[in-house]
Amino acid sequence: MRYEAPHPIPYQGSKRLLAPAILSFIAPGRFERLIEPFAGSAAITLAAASKKLVNSCVIADLLKPLTEIWNAILQKPDGLADAYEEIWQQQAIGDSTDWFNRVRAEFNKQHDPAKLLFLLARCVKNAVRFSNSGDFNQSPDKRRRGMHPVTMRAEILAAHKLLRNRSEVICGDFRRVLTSATSVDLVYMDPPYQGTSEGRDRRYIKGVQRSEMIAVLADLNKRSIEYILSYDGRCGGKEYGEPLPAHLNLHRVLLEVGRSSQATLNGRDDVTVESIYLSPGLRPQSKMPFHVHLRSFSPQNSLFPISQQ
Ligand SMILES: C[S@@+](CC[C@H](N)C(=O)[O-])C[C@H]1O[C@@H](n2cnc3c(N)ncnc32)[C@H](O)[C@@H]1O
Repeated sequence: MRYEAPHPIPYQGSKRLLAPAILSFIAPGRFERLIEPFAGSAAITLAAASKKLVNSCVIADLLKPLTEIWNAILQKPDGLADAYEEIWQQQAIGDSTDWFNRVRAEFNKQHDPAKLLFLLARCVKNAVRFSNSGDFNQSPDKRRRGMHPVTMRAEILAAHKLLRNRSEVICGDFRRVLTSATSVDLVYMDPPYQGTSEGRDRRYIKGVQRSEMIAVLADLNKRSIEYILSYDGRCGGKEYGEPLPAHLNLHRVLLEVGRSSQATLNGRDDVTVESIYLSPGLRPQSKMPFHVHLRSFSPQNSLFPISQQ
């Protein structure tokens, strides 16, 4: 499957590869605007814009410097690409781990978006991690230098071209972002998995309680706002989260993503399965498979994915 949308922010948990399958449930032109309140790298927004599924987009996240990367991509893409290049080139001078640690310490004081972009590109698994005091504390990946500045510039400029003049960036909690949603909007939500925002190494700045999520979904149902939610999943024997309650009247689809890279490294045969839930108004008319193999997903088969177990 060829994937054409740009993707400037390397981000663990990005839905880049799943985007064609997730968006296959949406007919072009059905919705005016896409709202992505847990945007991260905004993979779904980028894919929806490149497929011309919607006319405008809202990119929102609680992590302020991340939303500032998005503001820079929209408003001063060359400035962001220049700043990234300058930080990236400094790695060649002296010890690159020392340089990473210095950029990280400076980022924790100033919250500069170009520094965050470099840290994300260069850190282990492109994964944000925060200490209890809120500092970025992920280590550098010693085997890689992070996305080359020439590639980064091309990705930034392509994202800018795709999203400029039709995108709004919001920094804030998802519930606040959703207050502006109406029935012409499609909402795509990818909240942190239960359990990935607590404990010693917090993957995201803040978690979302299951009860809060259920209350928000019930409210969206009441307001006739359609949404797709990525929620829970499993890798090998490990389950992430309970299925959502039946009263929400959602349609659950399991996307079999393939073997996780961590499992492959460890010589295990674990298959990663991701769940998505479609809101009541997106429930397909025709009988739709419950379990979809992503590797056999064909973008030509546009409205609904195909192969089933
Ligand atoms: C699983 S990641 C989303 C990844 C995204 N789908 C992508 O393709 O890159 C979850 C995101 O939610 C953000 N987040 C955590 N709690 C939030 C909240 N209460 N409101 C809004 N965003 C939040 C995190 O900063 C993180 O970027």
